[in-house]
Amino acid sequence: MSTIDEIKAKIDIVDLVSEAGVKLRKAGRNQTGFCPFHDNKHTPAFVVWPESGTWRCFGACNEGGDIFKFVMKREGIDFKEALQKLALRAGVEVQQIQRETPQQREAYDHLRVLLEDAVVYYRSHLFANNEILNYLHEKRGLTDATIETFGLGYAPQGYDNLIRHFTSKGYMPQDLVDAGMLSERESGGYYDRFRNRIMIPIRDENGKMAGFGARIVDPDDIPKFLNSPETAIFTKGHLLYGLDRARKPIRAADQAVIVEGYLDVIALHQAGYENVVSPMGTALTEDQLRLLKRSTRRIVLALDPDVAGQKAVLRGLEAARSAMDKEGELAFDAHGLLRNEARLQADLRVATMPDDLDPDEIVARNKEEWATLIANAKPIITHVMETVSAGQDLNDPKIKNQIAAQVLPLIDDMGSPLERDTYRQALARMLRVDERSLMAAQPKGPVVRRKPRVGESSRRVESSTVVAANPRKNIEFYCLGVLLRKPELLYRLDRRLEEFGLSPLAVEDFEYTDHQLMFDVLRQAMGQDEKDHGLYVLSQMPEALSALTNELLAQTEKLDMLDDKLLEDLLGRFLDLRRSHAMTNVTQLKFMQDDEQEQGGENIKIYIEQTMRFTRLLNGLDQAKLKLSKRQA
Ligand code: UTP
Ligand code: MN
Repeated sequence: MSTIDEIKAKIDIVDLVSEAGVKLRKAGRNQTGFCPFHDNKHTPAFVVWPESGTWRCFGACNEGGDIFKFVMKREGIDFKEALQKLALRAGVEVQQIQRETPQQREAYDHLRVLLEDAVVYYRSHLFANNEILNYLHEKRGLTDATIETFGLGYAPQGYDNLIRHFTSKGYMPQDLVDAGMLSERESGGYYDRFRNRIMIPIRDENGKMAGFGARIVDPDDIPKFLNSPETAIFTKGHLLYGLDRARKPIRAADQAVIVEGYLDVIALHQAGYENVVSPMGTALTEDQLRLLKRSTRRIVLALDPDVAGQKAVLRGLEAARSAMDKEGELAFDAHGLLRNEARLQADLRVATMPDDLDPDEIVARNKEEWATLIANAKPIITHVMETVSAGQDLNDPKIKNQIAAQVLPLIDDMGSPLERDTYRQALARMLRVDERSLMAAQPKGPVVRRKPRVGESSRRVESSTVVAANPRKNIEFYCLGVLLRKPELLYRLDRRLEEFGLSPLAVEDFEYTDHQLMFDVLRQAMGQDEKDHGLYVLSQMPEALSALTNELLAQTEKLDMLDDKLLEDLLGRFLDLRRSHAMTNVTQLKFMQDDEQEQGGENIKIYIEQTMRFTRLLNGLDQAKLKLSKRQA
């Protein structure tokens, strides 16, 4: 689920509107009150639809939207500020996609240039050192092409090679510190951070330099891997090693594989498996999963045997609850992963490496074996079930009990009831017990759902399904995605609508604030005299919409329909959107009219006018649909 959906799921629009001082009264399935945006205190023309989380003023404003739009209008703030405000209220973390300010960008670009220089510098030392080159060729099986592609290098022995080289080129020591290349002496002064190590450049998903990972050459040195320290441009939790090269292959394969080591990434890419990335020695974070989710929802964790198989997962089980609530941190722990799988609507699977081998050793012994291992990756819960039962005597009732106690809480964490049922049955089968006694084995009695976090009532957690399943949202999403890729279709759509006697596409055709904003950007950009409108649209997108933009681009990558067909398809969908919108309003107005009649009916005129307006619109839409289907036939 996107951050925006998550916030919507957790904030009750009725609460929000009531808190803003609007007294709401039930009218049908919805609630009405006086519009807070215009000062008519006679006609309760303001309606809230709790189920879809939207509102509308049928009076002077003649406007509507979701919780974001409400807060924006109410407080006169922009979307980004509303997002932050509501995220805080919902207890949802907003990804800080802060675009750099021009000054920051200049400073960061300076650091990136320095790091690019460092790549060249380390590379020249590698190609001057046969011993290290031999190690990479022979022990690690890497070709020169791979070494080049990944920009591998070597940091020579000694404490002042880099500092001397770079200061002689005009860099200030402080630049080198800011880039994470130097360490500071306690007595003052600096020395090279990386010495006698194989250097692995780490780039962000766009290929921009961020930092280095550095592996020992001398087995006695510690630590085995030394990374750049966290700097302004190197934040381990937000980067995935190899993603710059893996992004396209991940999209093409519609699958991402996460391994644990840099060298595994490199070896797998060399073997032709290019959809592989790794974290940098830290637990997998939600940010990292989100980063991948832009390209695919199918993610496989290829875990080293020791980590995945036994320790981490089991440790995860024990430390489950406490570890879980450490915001953002996932670790390779089943609880956290399952929770995030449901929340991000990802499909997470686990592949374990056999025979105590790392992924790079597996492709080295047999390339095809890797493909088989990944193809056989198992859902996390299956993986856990198999792991905890491996080598156990499943006839022993005590053991059955133990296993059930470990696995059931995980099953309860799963997002869909169907999945929960399926895995409970699977567990019962595995333990050869019937499901009822299995449920009785659960220490806490009947199904214990996760406790809601502060500010999150269980009712609201459940309502998230409503938001996620809202078909209107999906249609808007699809249409925007197509328009983002083919903005020229906007003109043609408008022309077709005009032929049908309908108004051109407008912000009001979208119900969701982020969608409205994006459409507005599209509309504005198309009015400009630009050569490549597609690119121009993207350049005009505000940062608050970058997550949505990426999601849209990822979801509508394959547009293999011909433009003419696509146009008809979009047209049909927009007509449907307008139709359902008009229908909702007519139904609601009917309620309000009846209600008003009971009250004495002095304001009934405004409702009747509105009803007529929407009814006319419905007629027009029906005719348009008819013509459209005739044309298609
Ligand atoms: P491994 O020790 O499994 O290393 O650590 P590896 O990648 O398989 O390396 P080789 O094959 O022995 O050369 C896995 C990953 O954990 C991080 C690194 O990102 C490494 O690639 N790590 C490991 C650290 O950050 N620091 C360490 O001290 C060790
Ligand atoms: Mn290894």
